Amino acid sequence: MFSLPLRDDALLRPLEPWNAPEFAEHLERAREHIRPWVGSAFASDPAEVILERYAQRVAADSGRLLGIWLDGVLVGGVMFVAFDVGSGVCEVGCWVEPAAEGRGLVTPACRVLVEWAVRVRGMHRVEWRCRADNARSAAVAARLGMVLEGVLRGAWLFEGARYDEQLWAVLATDLEDH
Ligand SMILES: CC(C)(COP(=O)(O)OP(=O)(O)OC[C@H]1O[C@@H](n2cnc3c(N)ncnc32)[C@H](O)[C@@H]1OP(=O)(O)O)[C@@H](O)C(=O)NCCC(=O)NCCS
Repeated sequence: MFSLPLRDDALLRPLEPWNAPEFAEHLERAREHIRPWVGSAFASDPAEVILERYAQRVAADSGRLLGIWLDGVLVGGVMFVAFDVGSGVCEVGCWVEPAAEGRGLVTPACRVLVEWAVRVRGMHRVEWRCRADNARSAAVAARLGMVLEGVLRGAWLFEGARYDEQLWAVLATDLEDH
């Protein structure tokens, strides 16, 4: 299976149904950490269900999931939560387990997705949605050159409480000069 080096000790590679045992072990380490900040299905569904769902999205060209391996251990990943070729709009998401946070792994992995979406797939707009109080996630969006376009008040529901949601995006035209 192909993989893309992010740097000497880390690589990016598609996360597929056959990775379920390794993904399940990773989710054990990650879930409590990511639960408030990611979609409820990703936070709670069994590993094999998530991987099968994304495999179906790959088949439909409507989403993709890639893992980040650090020193041979699956520590997180990045995904196209949504990918709509017709409208030219997609959305990128990400997560890492606690031990891999603050190591500079996620931003370059997301950059691979943004570049591929725009330059290979001709996407016009790459979005990013996060809880407004998720400073680490917003920092990744900003590092990717995204613009904070607005706040969807009360759009994020977590354990019965509502939170504001930020909408960030970068356009193909924003990347033309870079
Ligand atoms: C959002 C999330 C993925 C961001 O992870 P992250 O590790 O902060 O992001 P990056 O990989 O871009 O790393 C940047 C950090 O690594 C540090 N870093 C360390 N080594 C580095 C290196 N070689 N190169 C670049 N940065 C490095 C940076 O200084 C920065 O840390 P700081 O913000 O404390 O200054 C992570 O916090 C997470 O999984 N949160 C829970 C789930 C979540 O919120 N997902 C997003 C839903 S919208």
